[in-house]
Amino acid sequence: MRQKIVAGNWKMNNNLNEGIKLTSEVVNMVQDELTNGVQVILGCPFIHLTSVQKLTNGTKVALSAQNVHQEEKGAYTGEVSATMLKSVPVQYVIIGHSERREYFEESNELLAKKVDILLKNELIPIFCCGESLAIREAGNHVEYVCNQLKESLYHLSTADFSKIVIAYEPIWAIGTGVTASAAQAQEMHLALRNFIAEKYGQEIADNTSILYGGSVKPANAQELFACPDVDGGLVGGASLKSRDFVDIAKSF
Ligand code: PGA
Repeated sequence: MRQKIVAGNWKMNNNLNEGIKLTSEVVNMVQDELTNGVQVILGCPFIHLTSVQKLTNGTKVALSAQNVHQEEKGAYTGEVSATMLKSVPVQYVIIGHSERREYFEESNELLAKKVDILLKNELIPIFCCGESLAIREAGNHVEYVCNQLKESLYHLSTADFSKIVIAYEPIWAIGTGVTASAAQAQEMHLALRNFIAEKYGQEIADNTSILYGGSVKPANAQELFACPDVDGGLVGGASLKSRDFVDIAKSF
């Protein structure tokens, strides 16, 4: 069956010492308390990765970056390549977060290239998708999110698609304290799974982990994770507090 995952997305928070402290706390709690087989992932800023890797190495906690450049290498001042991330090593890379789509104008087409460079380097993409409030209110949310998958992922072979983790994050729920209801999350996750099944078959769809993101906290995680098609969470704000983050992972 598909992997249950709780991934933290620190975004642009924590200096290096704070990141190291948070990581130590999470690693200790996960090692001591987590027995439900959930894969816990820390999504750190680039400069934290090598230090955090030393603390997560050999533990149940995996490491993720929050972005990658789409080219192999070269004159791209300030950017970080997939081979650099692989050399840390990190296992996962978050791509297509709505903040990157909005503030850095990342398109579905660009994200298709990022997916390719990650898979080429045996890194697992955590591919984010999700609609704005206006799109939801117009009733076009399912179609919109399916199209994000189609334009960025549906060029992949079945073997490659089976490596992808999807994170559905309605933009109106990110950092707002407003969470999608369990019913809203389940509706979208099921629609995405059906859409994947149409292209890649039911078995691949059934094995794809689809995470929910948007104001996940200890108080709502259990209800969200109880939905049959919600396989975990991508957690922003609550991942900055070790106790809250690990409690979310324990909510399964
Ligand atoms: P949030 O962020 O949990 O703070 O809403 C989620 C995300 O952006 O991944």
